[in-house]
Amino acid sequence: MGRLDGQHVFVTGGSRGIGAATVEKALEEGARVSFIDLEAAAGAKLAAGLGIDRCHFGQGNVTSADDIARVATAAVARFGPVTGLVNNAGRNSYADPVGMTEAEWDDVFAVDLKAAWLAARAVLPGMIAAKAGSIVNIASVHADMTYPGFFPYAAAKSGLVGLTRSLALEVGPHQIRVNALSPGYTETALVKEFFDQHEPELREKVLETHPMRRIATPREIANCIVFLLSDEASFVTGANWKADGGLTARFAG
Ligand SMILES: NC(=O)c1ccc[n+]([C@@H]2O[C@H](COP(=O)([O-])OP(=O)(O)OC[C@H]3O[C@@H](n4cnc5c(N)ncnc54)[C@H](O)[C@@H]3O)[C@@H](O)[C@H]2O)c1
Repeated sequence: MGRLDGQHVFVTGGSRGIGAATVEKALEEGARVSFIDLEAAAGAKLAAGLGIDRCHFGQGNVTSADDIARVATAAVARFGPVTGLVNNAGRNSYADPVGMTEAEWDDVFAVDLKAAWLAARAVLPGMIAAKAGSIVNIASVHADMTYPGFFPYAAAKSGLVGLTRSLALEVGPHQIRVNALSPGYTETALVKEFFDQHEPELREKVLETHPMRRIATPREIANCIVFLLSDEASFVTGANWKADGGLTARFAG
């Protein structure tokens, strides 16, 4: 018996990193899994490698309601209504608050905040009809603390935690749960992109700051996501769960 037997889990940004680890873990737990990603080649390769009968990939941009509708409709035709949604697609932002343009601001918020509402809007009618469902929004420790040079990522991820609370109250009466999962540093391309912008010593400094002297694997984050999707988390809603290896338990000194 898998923890997600009989479920259809839809993951955004599932082609690599935390999203890909979530696709794999949800399949292992018995779900049928569909995912959307900008990266067509990586997505198709992942889906083919995982066994095409329980896994569906559709190329698309999560900032487009049409793309989400197209991929979700094809997935629902194969696997039935979506019972679990993981809003994982996201991007970093390294803007200067004075130099940033409005278009650049809108791009960050479209991916890191608006897309989560667009995907939820697409799958909620099915969840409401079923009177069941779980939505997990991948926020970040940046919702609580942040780092210089990361503007305005913290604002977008804090917004995502607010969206989580708000949506949880709206859909709770339908027995649908909505939670945020806030990872700390996790070994993915996104973190490599961050370290590549700094001096090589920063990575060592970051590891030393972590109580466990290491950062997460994508699999460790996926394990938490799958817990929140599953019935084992049946009374958890409106929450923001941190998976940061204790990083934010510490202050300077
Ligand atoms: N890696 C970390 O340390 C870390 C820490 C905290 C939060 N997060 C969050 O976790 C989530 C996943 O991060 P990751 O490290 O696995 O990133 P990643 O860059 O390795 O993977 C993100 C995936 O999302 C896809 N994607 C990005 N924008 C998209 C769009 N507009 N439409 C469709 N797909 C899109 C990318 O193509 C990629 O496959 C993000 O929301 C990120 O903000 C990551």
